[in-house]
Amino acid sequence: MKVTVVGAGNVGATCADVIAQKDFVHEVVLLDIKEGTAEGKSLDIWQTAAINLYDTRTVGSTNDYSKTANSDVVVITSGLPRKPGMSRDDLIATNAGIVRSVTENIIKHSPNTIIIVVSNPLDVMTYCAFLTAKIDPSKVFGMAGILDTARYRAFLAEALDTSPKDIQAVLMGGHGDTMVPLPRYTTVAGIPVTELISKEKLDAIVERTKKGGGELVNLMGTSAWYAPGAAAAQMVEAVIKDQKRIFPCCAWLQGEYGLKNIYLGVPVKLGKNGIEEILELKLNDDEMKLLQSSAKSVKEVMNVLDNMQQPAVK
Ligand code: LAC
Repeated sequence: MKVTVVGAGNVGATCADVIAQKDFVHEVVLLDIKEGTAEGKSLDIWQTAAINLYDTRTVGSTNDYSKTANSDVVVITSGLPRKPGMSRDDLIATNAGIVRSVTENIIKHSPNTIIIVVSNPLDVMTYCAFLTAKIDPSKVFGMAGILDTARYRAFLAEALDTSPKDIQAVLMGGHGDTMVPLPRYTTVAGIPVTELISKEKLDAIVERTKKGGGELVNLMGTSAWYAPGAAAAQMVEAVIKDQKRIFPCCAWLQGEYGLKNIYLGVPVKLGKNGIEEILELKLNDDEMKLLQSSAKSVKEVMNVLDNMQQPAVK
């Protein structure tokens, strides 16, 4: 099995490193446009193999897509990260051009690949890759929900002084301030979280989660990479190992939740065919309203992309 990670910045390199350490593919190709960066980082990662005890070969490439040929999964992390004061949507013009050209090159060399998009603004860049790749949407999806729920779970683990492993949660909507954490579907070792924490504390954690990416941008002057890279690697693992895991991912909706022709975060089943099922939760009226308002804001940015380039899929 072979995986390519496009973009050897912080997120891409972290993703490649996590995949290599987990030792579930034969080869990880790291590709970047900056001369020598991908070769250097992949060589550095490879030199941890004897320490961390794995066999995954890591290969670097400066924009030579022939090295990515016949990848089973490709992760696209290319594009500019956020700076303080920017929203993810501010990146659209620059990153759409990058994601489009990366996707064209990927599909040319790996027509049967599954594509996982990580570039921001996430939901719209996933749509951009889908329009460009012209393959089934079950094979083009985005990473956001695992990252956003991981933040939510981390904050809850701290507040409850419990292991993050025991916190199960699902979160829906776009990867932005309108994301919809779902306390009603959050448990701690099977116990509804609402029985363990006050409403005020839970509300504060939900708010912190929504702005979780921005909190890190403000601290570091650029966006996060450890959790985004690990989250993308977890999706790759679910596909490569055909795990049938259920994760919140950015998926193409065709009527689910009453939404059509939109990429949005929903719970899905991930296996060797990519998105094998979209799960429809019985949301209550309040949750549905929040999801609809998140969909509205994602759709507005999708429209910006449509007006910039090719016609929308109707
Ligand atoms: C974040 C960026 C990667 O949420 O979107 O940290």
